Amino acid sequence: KSLTIGLIPADGIGREVIPAARDAIVAVKSELPDLKFIDLLAGWETFTRTGTALPRDTVQILKEECDCALFGSVSSPSRKVAGYSSPIVALRKELDLYANIRPVVSVQDTSRVDLIVVRENTECLYVKEENLIQTEKGKEARATRLITERASSRIGRIGFELAKARPRKLLTIIHKSNVLSVTDGLFRESVRGVPALSDGKYDDVNIEEQLVDSAVYRLFREPQIFDVMVAPNLYGDIISDAAAALVGSLGVIPSINAGDNFVMGEPVHGSAPDIAGKGIANPVASIRSAALMLRHLGYVSAADKIDKAVNDTLAPAKLLTPDLGGTASTTQVTEHIMGLIKEQ
Ligand code: NAI
Ligand code: MG
Repeated sequence: KSLTIGLIPADGIGREVIPAARDAIVAVKSELPDLKFIDLLAGWETFTRTGTALPRDTVQILKEECDCALFGSVSSPSRKVAGYSSPIVALRKELDLYANIRPVVSVQDTSRVDLIVVRENTECLYVKEENLIQTEKGKEARATRLITERASSRIGRIGFELAKARPRKLLTIIHKSNVLSVTDGLFRESVRGVPALSDGKYDDVNIEEQLVDSAVYRLFREPQIFDVMVAPNLYGDIISDAAAALVGSLGVIPSINAGDNFVMGEPVHGSAPDIAGKGIANPVASIRSAALMLRHLGYVSAADKIDKAVNDTLAPAKLLTPDLGGTASTTQVTEHIMGLIKEQ
C-alpha cells in the first residue's frame, strides 16, 4: 500500500508553508504507508506564464495518481482579468469536494475555543443563479438558493462523524428556519434525519440547533458552548471566518475540502504578499491542514503526533512567528515541530 500526495503550493507564502507541511508528514512516515509526493502547478504565477491558472495536467494527475493533496494559496488579481478564474474553486468542483471542514482552536487556552465548522460547499446561494430586471419602480435582483436533501444529508453525515469522534459529541445545526422554513427547514430536517439512516451509529451524538444570527452572537460571547457546527454554504462561510477571528492569527487555522473520494488540505489564509519571500510565514496552518487531511483518511496516530507537536510548540509561546508576536522564522518553527514529533 502507498499514499500519494499532490502538492500544489501555488503562490506567495504557499511556496514557503507547503514544504513545511510536507516535512511534517515525512516526520510521521513510520505511521503511514509508503509515501510519494507529486509537485503540481496552479495559481496566478502559473496563469501569467502559461495562460491557465489550473493546468489540465494538474487535475488529471490529482484524479488518476493522488490519494489526497495539499493546496497552498493563490494570489487573485484585484480586478477582473480575461481568462483567469480561481483554481481553488475549480478544484472543489472538479473533485466534488462538498465539505469544507475548519477546526478553530485557541492558540494558548483550548478551554476557550475548540470547535469545528462544517460548511456545505456546493449549493445554497453559491449556485450563483442571479438575475437583474428593470421594473417600473426600478431595478430588481433575485438569486436562487438551492438546498437539496442529498447535499444536506451528506454534509450532515460528515458533521455526525466528526462529532462522534470528539469528547463532547455535540453537533449544532445552524439555520434560520424560523424565517426560511422551506429551504433551511429542509437543511435542518435532512441533517436531523441522518441518525435514522445510520443503524444507531450516531445515537451517542447530542444534537442542538441555533439560529444563525444568535449563533454568531454566542460564538463571540461564549465560544466554549460549541463543538461541531454544521451549516449551509453561506452561513458556514460567515461563521467560519468569524470563528477564525476568535483565535488571533490566520496563520494557525487549517481546513480540508473533502468529498467521498478525495480530500485536499488547505490553510485558510491567502498568499500574504506583504510577507512573501521573507521566510517568516507561520507554517502552522499548513502543518495542521496536513494533519487534518491524514486524520480524514484514517491515519489517526500520524495526525495526533503532528497536532501534539504543534500544540506543544504554540502553548509555551517561546518559538512563534511574528504574526503571533514572536521573532522565529518559518524554518525554525517547522524544525522545532519536527523535533517534537520525533521525540514522541
Ligand atoms: P492573506 O490571508 O493573504 O493575508 C492577510 C494578513 O494575514 C496579511 O497581513 C498576512 O501577512 C497575514 N497572514 C496570512 N497568512 C499568514 C501566515 N501563514 N503567517 C503569517 N501571517 C499571515 O489575505 P489577503 O491579504 O486579503 O489576500 C492576499 C492574496 O491572497 C490575495 O490575492 C487574495 O485573493 C488571496 N487569497 C487567497 C486565498 C486562498 O488561496 N484560498 C484565501 C484568501 C486570500
Ligand atoms: Mg470566506
